[in-house]
Amino acid sequence: MTGEAMAQTAQSLVAPGKGILAADESTPTMAKRLATIGVESTEPVRRAYREILFTTPELSRYVSGVILFDETIRQRAADGRPFAEVLHGAGIIPGIKVDAGTKPLAGFPGELVTSGLDGLRERLEEYAGLGARFAKWRAVIRIGDGLPTPTCVEANAHALARYAALAQEAGLVPIVEPEVLMDGAHTVERCAEVTADALRVVYDQLARHRVDLDATLLKPNMVVAGTDSEVQADDDAVARTTLEVLRRTVPAAVPGIVFLSGGMSDEQATARLDALNRHGPQPWQLSFSFGRALQGPVLRAWAGDEANRAAAQEALLHRAALNSAARFGTYLPDMERERVGEGRR
Ligand code: 13P
Repeated sequence: MTGEAMAQTAQSLVAPGKGILAADESTPTMAKRLATIGVESTEPVRRAYREILFTTPELSRYVSGVILFDETIRQRAADGRPFAEVLHGAGIIPGIKVDAGTKPLAGFPGELVTSGLDGLRERLEEYAGLGARFAKWRAVIRIGDGLPTPTCVEANAHALARYAALAQEAGLVPIVEPEVLMDGAHTVERCAEVTADALRVVYDQLARHRVDLDATLLKPNMVVAGTDSEVQADDDAVARTTLEVLRRTVPAAVPGIVFLSGGMSDEQATARLDALNRHGPQPWQLSFSFGRALQGPVLRAWAGDEANRAAAQEALLHRAALNSAARFGTYLPDMERERVGEGRR
C-alpha cells in the first residue's frame, strides 16, 4: 500500500460509529480466557470460537477491523475460506498482532520490554500476503515504587518506533500501543504523569524513525487510578484527565485513538468512551480497540457449546452496538438492557 492508501485505511478503521475488535490473544492468553468458562484450549476450540466472532451477522455496522493472532490468520472458517478472507468479504479490515510478547528488561527488576523485532520485516511481508492491512505492537509500562524508569520507557518507545517504521515499509498501518497498566494502588494523577511521559517519548521516537503519523493509530490506556487505589475517579473525571493528557502529547496528524479496555469492566469501558466523546470535537477520532470488554459477554454466552452460537453472536453485536453509540457520546446505561444491536439499519 502507498502512504495515501495506508492513511485511508487508518481513517476507515476509525470511521464514525465504528471501532476495532481485538481478537489477537496469544495461545497462552486464550487458554486463560477459555479457562474462565471451563473450556480447554485446543486449536479446534480456538478456531471454532474465533469463527463465531468473525461470522457474526451485521458486525461491520459497528466493527471496522479485527486484530488477529498468528495462529488465527492461518486458520479457515468451516466453509474453507481463510479468516482474513471471511472478514474482507464482510467489509471488515483484518489486522495482525506482530509483537512476540513481553520479556523482563535486563538490569531493571520488575520492568518489561516487548520482543519481536528480529525477523519482523519478513513476517510483515508474509502477513501482508495473508491479507492483513494493519498491525499491532503492545508495549507494557508498570507503575510502582520508582517505576517506570526512563530506560524502560525509552526502550519500549524505541521498539515501538522500529516496529511502526517496518510496518509502514510493508504497507501495513501500525497501531502503536504503549499500555500503562492499571495494576497497583497509584493515584489517577500518577497515571496521568506516567502516561503523558510515555506518550511524549513514543512520539519523539516515531518522529526520529520517520514514521508517517497520518498512517498510524494510537492505542493507549485511559487515565485511571490503579485497581487497588481506594479513590477512583468517576467516568467524566476519567474522560477529562485522559483528554488533558492526550491533547498535550498526541499530534493532530494521528487520525484516531483507539483505547484498550485493560481490565475495565465492559460497561465501564463503554461508559468512559462515551464520556470521552461528550467533550466535543477533538483533533482525532476517539474509538475502541477492546479485547476483554467486547469478548467477555460473548465467552459467557457461548460457554463452549455450539448450540449457543446465535446467543454468543447476539452478545457480541449488542456490545459492539453500545460501543458504537459511545463513539457518538449517545450511550445510556439503560441501553444495556435493550436489544440495541438488532433492527437498526
Ligand atoms: P483489552 O481490551 O482486553 O485490554 O485488550 C486489548 C488489547 O489488544 C491489548 O493488547
